Amino acid sequence: MSLRRSSAAALAALLALAVLLGTSADDGGQGQPIVARVSKDASTSLYTIAIKVGGVPLLVDLAGPMLWLANCPTPHRIIPCVSHDCDDVSTTYRPPGCPKPNLRGDGPCACPAYPRNPVDGRCRSDDATTITLAANATDGQNPLYPVTFRAVGSCAPGELLESLPAGAAGVAGLSRLPLSLPTQFASLLKVANEFALCLPSGGDGVAVFGGGPFQLLAAPPVELAERLRENPLPLLKHPYNGGYYFGITGIAVNQQRVPTPDGVFDLDAGSGTGGAVFSTVTPYTALRWDIYWPLRNAFDVATSGIARADKVAPFDLCYQASALTVTRVGYAVASIELMLDGGRNWTLPGASSLVQVNDNTVCFAFVQMASSMPAAIDSPAVILGGHQMENNLLMFDLVKETFAFSGLLLGIRTTCSNFNFTMGSSY
Ligand SMILES: *[C@@H]1O[C@H](CO)[C@@H](O)[C@H](O)[C@H]1NC(C)=O
Ligand SMILES: *[C@@H]1O[C@H](CO)[C@@H](O)[C@H](O)[C@H]1NC(C)=O
Ligand SMILES: *[C@@H]1O[C@H](CO)[C@@H](O)[C@H](O)[C@H]1NC(C)=O
Repeated sequence: MSLRRSSAAALAALLALAVLLGTSADDGGQGQPIVARVSKDASTSLYTIAIKVGGVPLLVDLAGPMLWLANCPTPHRIIPCVSHDCDDVSTTYRPPGCPKPNLRGDGPCACPAYPRNPVDGRCRSDDATTITLAANATDGQNPLYPVTFRAVGSCAPGELLESLPAGAAGVAGLSRLPLSLPTQFASLLKVANEFALCLPSGGDGVAVFGGGPFQLLAAPPVELAERLRENPLPLLKHPYNGGYYFGITGIAVNQQRVPTPDGVFDLDAGSGTGGAVFSTVTPYTALRWDIYWPLRNAFDVATSGIARADKVAPFDLCYQASALTVTRVGYAVASIELMLDGGRNWTLPGASSLVQVNDNTVCFAFVQMASSMPAAIDSPAVILGGHQMENNLLMFDLVKETFAFSGLLLGIRTTCSNFNFTMGSSY
């Protein structure tokens, strides 16, 4: 009897402690940005982020409207149909062709949500819910202490995980819409509504939400965020989706402008077709045919002295690896420049423009956009994909509606895998 009572008391004390720890962690997170590991899945060339309790990976979807998690426990929290969150979830995000929910006849109305698999485009309806996330606060140099919080997201049937990296439990949508992770972090953690994303080509890359400095190890370590914030470029608004669109005025190979028809890069503000958009679910930059062929042919001519190899799908132009020399910024080939709004150029050296596909073969790492690509749902002209974003620090400011890019970090002798994930001291 007394034993039972004391263990009950111990349990109560433990619970109280857990609540205390929980709240102190939440309070400690106020105003402090958070950091999470981003990994590349070798078999799908997609990226996951460890932001869920237990480090369970979620697919990174820059253009994704919200967070979803497969196989929610039963029962799980629901979100009432009449609530601000439900307005955000169900009015904004029902993709075309997504099935309507089976409304239950009994109990309180559960807010429906429409989780979509961004890789194959399948979509389902399920319950909106709250999902517990965990990450570390950061000073931009190290993780400092863990924080946990609940974000609004959606449940999803397990079958929606097909075509995602093995082990991924759902999708982390990082778009510009109200229920995306950066926007929810901004209000939950009282941090700036901006984030930094550094996709790795191997090892652990990094994402920092909430602003602040961003440091990578190098000799000596480099802080990159301040300079990037001084050089922002405007994001363009898409009328129907929350993707990160930006302006391209042309493409050059070896400082020679590639001849493309007038207006091919323009985003039509009414219909939403055209424009350039970042996508983490497109492994290699995809170009509409009227941009792909002029670029591919210009690159072909600029590299005519390099021995060719048999094509390896999905690529159309491949070289013998032995015919290429390697520099600090990848294979020594003609560089490609994306000419951006405001006269700035984003240079893509060999590490960004080519990819080694097997021991003997290196290919031109761009593909022609297929109309069946799910990311092409609103028909952009350019989908800037993962390979071209790798080892670049990208910063997105959702309030100022700007982005900034570092250029290939190999050029300054560091990579996205050089964040120092050793726990720092938080004083
Ligand atoms: C916090 O960082 C430490 C050190 O890198 C890591 O072991 C731990 O898993 C992180 N915690 C969370 C919740 O991400
Ligand atoms: C950008 O690239 C184009 C084409 O190579 C070149 O003409 C232009 O001078 C470059 N602009 C800057 C600012 O480097
Ligand atoms: C990584 O951070 C830890 C904690 O601040 C520090 O002790 C260590 O020297 C750092 N590692 C490198 C390689 O700078």
